[in-house]
Amino acid sequence: MSASREHFSSKIGFILAAAGSAVGIGNLVGFPVAATKNGGGAFLLIYAFFVAFICLPVMLAEMGLGRRAQHSPYKAYSELGQGLKRWRLAGLFATITPFMIAVFYMVITVWIFGYLVQSLLGNLDALASEGFFGNFVNDYDFIWYLVGVTIIINFILGGGVRKGIERASKILMPTLFLMLILLVIFVLTLDNAWAGVQFYLVPDFSQINGSVINGALAQAFFSLSLGMGILITYGSYFRRSDDIVTSGKLVAITDTAVAFIAGLMTLPAIFAIYPDTNPDSLSDSSVSMIFSFFPNIFLALSESVGYFAASVAATIFFLLAFVAAITSLVSIIEVPTSSLMEKRNISRKKALLAMGIAITVLTLIAATSFGLVPWFTAFTSYAGADKSVFDVIYDVFYDTILPLNGLLICLFVRFRWKRSQLTAELSEGNQAYATSWLEKYVSFAIGTFIPLILAVVFINTVLTKFFAISII
Ligand code: PHE
Repeated sequence: MSASREHFSSKIGFILAAAGSAVGIGNLVGFPVAATKNGGGAFLLIYAFFVAFICLPVMLAEMGLGRRAQHSPYKAYSELGQGLKRWRLAGLFATITPFMIAVFYMVITVWIFGYLVQSLLGNLDALASEGFFGNFVNDYDFIWYLVGVTIIINFILGGGVRKGIERASKILMPTLFLMLILLVIFVLTLDNAWAGVQFYLVPDFSQINGSVINGALAQAFFSLSLGMGILITYGSYFRRSDDIVTSGKLVAITDTAVAFIAGLMTLPAIFAIYPDTNPDSLSDSSVSMIFSFFPNIFLALSESVGYFAASVAATIFFLLAFVAAITSLVSIIEVPTSSLMEKRNISRKKALLAMGIAITVLTLIAATSFGLVPWFTAFTSYAGADKSVFDVIYDVFYDTILPLNGLLICLFVRFRWKRSQLTAELSEGNQAYATSWLEKYVSFAIGTFIPLILAVVFINTVLTKFFAISII
């Protein structure tokens, strides 16, 4: 273990940091809406099954690999892969992916920050006005919000693992839970709210088909921050005496619980305000839900509770989304930052400066691809549609590459690192693991059907996204 590498000071610090990464915008709106549209309770059951039986083993493998190597993904793969080119490539993917997702996520976080500031200033009526979002994304004021978010991120990451990431998570995650619970209680007291709960929870198995199943797995994978190199990096900050297995389970449970509870806020709010909503008409896009749909809900709410109370609710909602987004963003920027520190042997400050510049430039390119700069807006076209830079980053890095990275770690464990090594690593800090049922299951599944399933998901996504052909 390198003497200079920083480590989390406690298991709870690690759990909160990893849960902070996992709990993101996807949990608050994407998950509840996907569940409601795709069979309610039936979707929830399938999702929970995927979290436990497919995602958890991949999660443990990522954390185990990181702690064994004591390096961030690139070096972890190249050292444990004994320098072989193909494993170096896997490390490269696990480094570039978070970098590009950081750009995409940065754009959305900056918008949320803008909406938070506006609702705090009492401009809820403007936020809900027709065409506001379209103008907002095409306004250079974006840059001020970008500066604000960059300062906050640098402040957290500049503090390092313990004084930055861990300390921020210990404050932000409990705050997030509190805000979420407050909003759930508030929303459930509104008239008609229970109709939303019903749509969310009552199972309808007739809605389940191949693409819903594929979507549930992709959502679970993404929500747990898998395939992004994050858990390899955070794993490398875990002490040898700490229990990866229990921590991994708790992170998975926390993330799933927050997504589930968020559904008790999102759906009831929608149905309390628009009782006749047809679930199928809800947008699949979290972006349009957060920025176009929700401000309207809050404004409509002001008719019953008054403008001030509605503005307070809107502010808490955007603050909740902002906290969820910041803790995810911190984790994802930490991956390329720590890789850079290792590769160039430079200080955290210098690595953050270099990352800050690179991410800001790319964020500006992505953020101006909604019309401001025509060349970035109509950047390319595939599957019969024009695509902006933002769309390409989303399609390639958000949707497609995560299952590929998951597949690569399974193959790495199976063919290079070996499953017995994974078991040995996970047993440190948890003696009972080596002889447990979970160990038997993880060792079997990670070398057989999990990579197979991830390969099918990957191929299906490539065909649907880029060639408009669906095999599932
Ligand atoms: N789990 C996060 C979410 O649900 C995904 C994510 C993590 C995205 C880290 C970016 C960075 O939103």
